[in-house]
Amino acid sequence: VDGQRIRHKGFWFKPEFITATEAIRAHYTPLPSDIILASFPKTGTTWLKALTSSILRHSSTIHNNHDHMDNLNPHELVPFLEIELFGETPSKDITKITSPRVFNTHLPLSFLPDTLKTSGSKVIYITRHPADTFVSLWHLYNNKFGTEISIQEAFDDFCKGLVPAGPYFDHVLEFWEARDQDRVLFVTYEDLKGKPEENVKRIADFLGCETMVEKVVEECSFENLRNASKERGEGVHWSGTKYDMFFRKGVVGDWKNHLTQEMMKELEDIADMKWSGSGLDLNIFNNSASQ
Ligand code: A3P
Repeated sequence: VDGQRIRHKGFWFKPEFITATEAIRAHYTPLPSDIILASFPKTGTTWLKALTSSILRHSSTIHNNHDHMDNLNPHELVPFLEIELFGETPSKDITKITSPRVFNTHLPLSFLPDTLKTSGSKVIYITRHPADTFVSLWHLYNNKFGTEISIQEAFDDFCKGLVPAGPYFDHVLEFWEARDQDRVLFVTYEDLKGKPEENVKRIADFLGCETMVEKVVEECSFENLRNASKERGEGVHWSGTKYDMFFRKGVVGDWKNHLTQEMMKELEDIADMKWSGSGLDLNIFNNSASQ
């Protein structure tokens, strides 16, 4: 959209992300207790950040730095690896963060340090149906840039992969192929919406932690997070996005209000082509979705 993105190892990012990737590979030493929340933009990152903080805050088994925090801004609780910690002008000091450290990243798995695999660190990847992911991204564009481009143009870019961290399909595939190995947990937005308790329990189990599942689900509901954000009246995220823009509609299936059947068919065709033979297909998003 802004024409400033470059392609690096098959993915489109702004140049500062590529510089940060190099810094991360050179200087970030994953610790066994580290928790990395990975995602493609607009797939539920903020929700996963809030859930993970809340799981830790209500944990009876893991002593953590989230229990003294009364500021429930997920973006402050969980710093962004490639900008806030390893960007050109880091706003947070990684050495000051106490264990377990929780970071989030939009980088593909192949961009992260190879030592991650053997470090014992845990990676949680959240993903979401590409149609709803695109619609969420489209609203963000509209909000930030006005109606400079049409939905059809934005959709064509999404399909071609010309979006931050794109192509979406390649990003998801990398984490899908690593799921259940090397400590990568694969979670969908639709599963979390459909069966929140079950999936929060799954995340807590993966982190090796006993927590108050119902409380976590309630604390991190769309309404609660959005209201808390409004009450704080907080300003702007490092990307220039206003915090309240991370809470738009929070539902499954909003694509039906914006995309044509032809557009959906195009996404299905790309998924068939790109995910062929991997066992990954769009049906993973239907499991327990509450439409
Ligand atoms: P919509 O634009 O479809 O509403 P990210 O955090 O990766 O940028 O993703 C943002 C999307 O997650 C937005 O989707 C936002 O509304 C949704 N979201 C944020 N918090 C949520 C929550 N607690 N429950 C459900 N969806 C949430």
